[in-house]
Amino acid sequence: MKKIIKNGTIVTATDTYQAELLIEDGKIAQIGTNLSAIGAEIVDAKGCLVFPGGIDPHTHLDMPFGGTITKDDFESGTIAAAFGGTTSIIDFCLTNKGEPLKDAIQTWHGKSKDKAVIDYGFHLMIGEINDKVLNELPQVINEEGITSFKVFMAYKNVLQADDETLFRTLVTAKEHGGLVMVHAENGDVIDYLTKKALEEGKTEPIYHALTRPQELEGEATGRAARLTGLANSQLYVVHVSCSDAVEQIAEARSKGFNVWGETCPQYLVLDQSYLEKPNFEGAKYVWSPPLREKWNQEVLWNALKNGTLQTFGSDQCSFDFKGQKELGRNDFTKIPNGGPIIEDRLTILFSEGVKKGRISLNQFVDLTSTRVAKLFGLFPKKGTIAIGADADLVIFDPNVERVISAETHHMAVDYNAFEGMKVTGEPVSVLVRGDYVIRDKQFVGKPGSGQYLKREKYSLNTPLNQNEKLSI
Ligand code: URP
Ligand code: ZN
Ligand code: ZN
Repeated sequence: MKKIIKNGTIVTATDTYQAELLIEDGKIAQIGTNLSAIGAEIVDAKGCLVFPGGIDPHTHLDMPFGGTITKDDFESGTIAAAFGGTTSIIDFCLTNKGEPLKDAIQTWHGKSKDKAVIDYGFHLMIGEINDKVLNELPQVINEEGITSFKVFMAYKNVLQADDETLFRTLVTAKEHGGLVMVHAENGDVIDYLTKKALEEGKTEPIYHALTRPQELEGEATGRAARLTGLANSQLYVVHVSCSDAVEQIAEARSKGFNVWGETCPQYLVLDQSYLEKPNFEGAKYVWSPPLREKWNQEVLWNALKNGTLQTFGSDQCSFDFKGQKELGRNDFTKIPNGGPIIEDRLTILFSEGVKKGRISLNQFVDLTSTRVAKLFGLFPKKGTIAIGADADLVIFDPNVERVISAETHHMAVDYNAFEGMKVTGEPVSVLVRGDYVIRDKQFVGKPGSGQYLKREKYSLNTPLNQNEKLSI
């Protein structure tokens, strides 16, 4: 059905203006004033902002991890995402050593197909590189439209890959148009520090943070960035948490390396002291990289503002406190890493960033949607308001005040990491390809209506660094 959105303020990554939108066949058909179309439903967005649906570049739904499985699956996770103004996600497809990549991808299609209420694509997590995996990668890129690959420099003996794997993935990505993502922490040193802490009887959640100092994130980020420069490839550093990592990304970019960075809500508004909450509550705040000392928050805000970091992901990876986080009551290394964030990503950035004058409204759209679409091969179908783009839209009330709480959230978990936080702004209605998923703050979508997104190759790979240093 056709729709005309009237009376709203359109916001894109570059512009803010008054206009009406005509939606036809799931796409934006016209932008103008006094629009009319026979049979069109008129949607009144008075007092609201209208911006492109959020694209979350970093989610883990229905994923086995840390001896358990994430609580939110593709149904509860995407419903919660929609309530928060996200209309597409890119989820991490877990691969298992020795298993063909295509089997892992089929498993992820099975988890998502009948459940997702918004559109979704996949990244692949690469645990090993051998000739079999290398041979499969071009097919994964060209046929499955999976054009980004995460390599873990941490989680020793579980997901951690060695430098050769990282380097060969960078070289292959360069050759075939992929983007390499890294979890940048020095897993070997963390392994040593955690063993030592446990030997000394240090088992509480705070030792998760104390055994993963930010120097180790900085070291791994710098190493990955240098390897990227050497391979003249492209790198996206996920969940950047601290100044040491920001400095390494800034240095790499100043040298002309194609290095991009993402941060997440928890690192902007929570800090290391949360891990010291009594009654084991600190376990709710266990992420890797860990929450940092509070002064890092200012560094991250500046990095978002000045462009050193370009995207804002949720790293949604939710576990109940009861029965899941509790697995680590006597040993912090057994606390499943991650938290429920998919729903509050946009509101936190809007409330803490735009409302408090730290970033502009247009930067907000760029960080949560447009830049993600550009880096991950979804632009201009997704990530913008333009004629011909998918009508993935958020009608957002910028003035409503509310309190984040597990009582009212839509994620399947028994706590909210931002419990009690006062925020300003909330999506009123959310449309995916022109259809309401959220209408007047009510869920009206349908599990299985989300479409799989085959993504384009990485196309920002005109090297900043014009010198082909190596022929590999
Ligand atoms: O603690 C985290 N970040 N959990 C999710 C897995 C990952 O490393 O991204
Ligand atoms: Zn990670
Ligand atoms: Zn993650």
